[in-house]
Amino acid sequence: MDLENINKKIMDMLPKRRFNHSLNVANCAAKLSEIYNYDKEKAYLAGIVHDCAKYLNYDEVNYYVNKYEIYLDELETNNIALSHSAIGSYIAQYELGIEDEDIINSIKYHTTGKEDMNLLEKIIYLADLIEEGRNFSGIDSLRELVYNGEIDQALLISFNNTIKFVIENNQLIHSRTIKARNYILKEITSNNK
Ligand SMILES: [Fe+2]
Ligand SMILES: [Fe+2]
Repeated sequence: MDLENINKKIMDMLPKRRFNHSLNVANCAAKLSEIYNYDKEKAYLAGIVHDCAKYLNYDEVNYYVNKYEIYLDELETNNIALSHSAIGSYIAQYELGIEDEDIINSIKYHTTGKEDMNLLEKIIYLADLIEEGRNFSGIDSLRELVYNGEIDQALLISFNNTIKFVIENNQLIHSRTIKARNYILKEITSNNK
């Protein structure tokens, strides 16, 4: 499926506000690709598609989970805020015909992060947070890091923020985020030695 048709499909799957967010993520990811020397088109496409499963209803989730035998862990089950990344990666691959593994994985891990993320996974994770429509305390310094070559530092701060938020709200933390945070912290520490 070409970009124009994918765009149309995504527009049908998302409310206008969420589609605008996806456009913003795509544009931000393309900008970051220039800074970090990544393939701009791939990053743009990943940004457009990343939230495609966010507005599936209960029956649609069950349909895709059964159709593609998608494994959802304890935290992802009945939690679209977490499961839309895994489900979305299958929709990208099998419904939208996206074959690129980096794009598929950047969708799959855009909510929790993971250990040893590759460049596109980092770009989409951060573009999702810092796209121009986002606003939260600390976003300016986060943007500054990302736009000044400090993508790993920005990633660490983002994981820390997420973990702090989840604790303050007495919610369960996904173990992938903890692993992602420890991994990038070790990576930054060993690079500074
Ligand atoms: Fe998302
Ligand atoms: Fe998003």
